[in-house]
Amino acid sequence: MPPSVDYEQSGSAYTRHRRADPRIAARIQAALGDARSVVNVGAGSGNYEPNDRRVLAVEPSSTMRAQRPAGAAPVIAGHAEALPLDDNAVDGAMAAMTIHHWRSPEVGLAELRRVARGPVVVFTLELEAWPAWQKEYLREGAELDQRRFPTIDHIAAALGGRTRVEEIPTPADCSDGFIEAFWNRPEALLDPDVRASQSLWAMLRPGVEQAIVERLRDALASGAWDEAHGELRQAAEFNGSLRLVISEPA
Ligand SMILES: C[S@@+](CC[C@H](N)C(=O)[O-])C[C@H]1O[C@@H](n2cnc3c(N)ncnc32)[C@H](O)[C@@H]1O
Repeated sequence: MPPSVDYEQSGSAYTRHRRADPRIAARIQAALGDARSVVNVGAGSGNYEPNDRRVLAVEPSSTMRAQRPAGAAPVIAGHAEALPLDDNAVDGAMAAMTIHHWRSPEVGLAELRRVARGPVVVFTLELEAWPAWQKEYLREGAELDQRRFPTIDHIAAALGGRTRVEEIPTPADCSDGFIEAFWNRPEALLDPDVRASQSLWAMLRPGVEQAIVERLRDALASGAWDEAHGELRQAAEFNGSLRLVISEPA
């Protein structure tokens, strides 16, 4: 089984640094097309939920459900692998930054397809396209994530239907603090509070997080990072690993 993290234990820092980025949210909204009713699975604190449609959120962790803001869509406790919804119960389904946490992505993705009459939209990462410096400095983490993240082909096959993949650039000022969001701001990863909102760190072997942080801190202090990657600081966006995998009914 791939490594996993317990959001009941480690999810309490989530909303301090993980806020839906409006440009990514717009892409997810567009991919949902004219779906009027949407189930958001692995919904967490409600990031990326549209506010102009009827949304039902499904989220297993009470720690995460408790971080949903007042006025957010209704949420029920549940897992992707056994959605408590009838076949074709909703117009559309979405899952953002969550499938790598599921016990069985195959089963969960088939569930999304089962309950949706229309589009299923999965927001995830294609790890090979991570920024080169993150692959280098966070190599132990990249290795671990290879075992967590299903490949894009795997996701498309598990969803079935007519699938397509969209690449999403990561903005320079991305407000959702996943690791790649800091492609141009490596200093952010030195902040323990930023790392506490990213699931990867809690799964590394003891001592590895500190080793990565020291490696990065040294490279920033010596100027080695800027010498090799400093031009990234000027760019407006990065064409990296963010992907939407979209399935329409066959
Ligand atoms: C990184 S958070 C993403 C939350 C939200 N979708 C977002 O974009 O901010 C991952 C979420 O997946 C949830 N999760 C873990 N296992 C799950 C499962 N089997 N089914 C559904 N959600 C699950 C976690 O509890 C957590 O809230």
